[in-house]
Amino acid sequence: MIEIQNVSFSYIDWEDEIDNEHSSRVLHHVTTSIMTNEFVALLGRNGSGKSSLTRLLNGIELPSEGAVQVEAQTTRNSHNIPSIRRAVQIVFQNPENQQVGLTVGEDIAFGLSNIGYPHEQIQERIAWAIDIVGLDADVDRPVTRLSGGEQQKLALASVLALSPRYLILDEATSMLDPVARKQFVQTLHEARKKHPFALIYITHHLEEVLEADRWILFRNGHLYQEGLPEQFLSDKTLLQECGLELPYLRSLGLTLRDRGIPVSTSLDVEELRELLCRFN
Ligand SMILES: Nc1ncnc2c1ncn2[C@@H]1O[C@H](COP(=O)(O)OP(=O)(O)OP(=O)(O)O)[C@@H](O)[C@H]1O
Ligand SMILES: [Mg+2]
Repeated sequence: MIEIQNVSFSYIDWEDEIDNEHSSRVLHHVTTSIMTNEFVALLGRNGSGKSSLTRLLNGIELPSEGAVQVEAQTTRNSHNIPSIRRAVQIVFQNPENQQVGLTVGEDIAFGLSNIGYPHEQIQERIAWAIDIVGLDADVDRPVTRLSGGEQQKLALASVLALSPRYLILDEATSMLDPVARKQFVQTLHEARKKHPFALIYITHHLEEVLEADRWILFRNGHLYQEGLPEQFLSDKTLLQECGLELPYLRSLGLTLRDRGIPVSTSLDVEELRELLCRFN
């Protein structure tokens, strides 16, 4: 479990001699926890503090106040950082910024060598990781020859090879086209079924997190609300406050219901097709 206890956070501005800690706060008294194998979505408008929170979860940054504990290990103790970084991995938006090797194999091997993975097992692990994300490329393929979607699968393979217990995806799909995005999300969930880990998923696309166990909504650096997705999906005002847009079919479903047409709240393409046939 990751425990976030009354965490406030400001980035230190080294050029600013005056202590303006409070005015530059980007997170305010955030308290929540992420359970083992849970799928949690962190949602909110640009600048609401989602990425900043994730940097606190693996000790890249430390809380200005409060504490973050990963499986009872505080990020404040530097001795804990190597095992925390191993347990909590992050995939970012831009795959190019995460590549460390020239080839697919080198890229996956880098993290494994860093954690002292037995040398003779590294090739086996690379093959495992390529397989689990369904990357259609051999180990010698230069990373520059991969498409955006393939590069993001490689980034995912490189972190999954390290067996994270918590995986943070920070808008990892935002540079992919809709088809690649869907495929990537599918790959991710298939990998989770085979080797469970907690998923902390940041996105502006709500359709990617309809299946999440919990949504956490951020607003101006505050944890504004948290709960089951269904709790928020019919609350247009709340979603608007948090800069979130309902997926198209959900929005259409609500409009139809408002007009007295009885459709289910989770209107899908099939139901819509039947409805159109009936009205024809
Ligand atoms: N390295 C940094 N140094 C100083 N301020 C920063 C830094 N990174 C982010 N901020 C500020 O912290 C606040 C929260 O930013 P953060 O990146 O956490 O938001 P976010 O919710 O991830 O937004 P987005 O959806 O745009 O990614 C913003 O006001 C931002 O300008
Ligand atoms: Mg962000």
